[in-house]
Amino acid sequence: MLMRRSASAVRVWTPAKVNLYLEVLAKRADGYHELATLMAAVNLYDTLEMFENASGETTLWCDDAALSTGPENLVCRAVELARHESSRRDGVAIRLWKRIPMAAGLAGGSSDAAATLAGLNRLWRLGWDRDKLIRMGAVLGSDVSFFFAGSAAWCTGRGERVEPLRLGRALDLVLVSPTVGLSTAEVFRGLTVPTEPRDGAAVRQAAASGDVEALGRCLHNRLQSAAERLCPEVAGLCARLSSLGSAGQLMTGSGSTVIALCRNPGEARTLARALHSARDELNGARVFVVRSCD
Ligand code: C5P
Repeated sequence: MLMRRSASAVRVWTPAKVNLYLEVLAKRADGYHELATLMAAVNLYDTLEMFENASGETTLWCDDAALSTGPENLVCRAVELARHESSRRDGVAIRLWKRIPMAAGLAGGSSDAAATLAGLNRLWRLGWDRDKLIRMGAVLGSDVSFFFAGSAAWCTGRGERVEPLRLGRALDLVLVSPTVGLSTAEVFRGLTVPTEPRDGAAVRQAAASGDVEALGRCLHNRLQSAAERLCPEVAGLCARLSSLGSAGQLMTGSGSTVIALCRNPGEARTLARALHSARDELNGARVFVVRSCD
């Protein structure tokens, strides 16, 4: 997350995340699932501009009319949480430019919520530390805390318990986002919890050592078959990426975006060009060439 402050405004560039590994360990009594997941932030950013608003009112504008800007939006819920925690009654006017596809497994909404908390912390000079922001993030959603953890993390619990992980090298990826998004809750409903969950030691080791070939072999997402039943395009795109020879391919989060792990930036660009040249087969899916954040 990058932030710039001026006299009465804060601008935040907040990244998308990908899951390189996601195992479901158990279903919990509260209805959530116990996870173990490796998340990495990538350089595809939404932008938020936050201005002090003397009227005391909170307003949200978004360049994408498809996004509801009402009180249920995670950005507005983050403002309410920050006001509650700080006992401030200040208002804020927020302008949001979306680049991260929505309902795509890239945690765009969670990233915007994290950016809102971080931005208000700066705008209102609240002095909250990272642990406080991580705890507040967990109140808003399972993926929000990750955005305070650094560029990659091993996440457990609902996903909100974050253990920063240093990647051995920057990862080059191609993201392919179908036009159809998926509801996280619906994907989890279609999931069969494994009786013997996989062990994540190998994927952590591969990520930490920067061994892309080994990482490619360890890619795993327990949610993928449930998502493929709702959106068969996911399986088709993964097969297409596999035929193009990346180090590995996988659906991220609860979908519907699929990712190709590439060996270097040139391979990622070549793969994206191959996808573009057979654009008709993409059914309008968007293609992004990205790199993990520093
Ligand atoms: O926490 P978040 O609001 O992002 O979760 C959306 C939905 O995804 C939850 O309501 C729940 O149905 C499902 N979920 C889950 N286990 C998790 C995370 C999410 O069952 N660890």
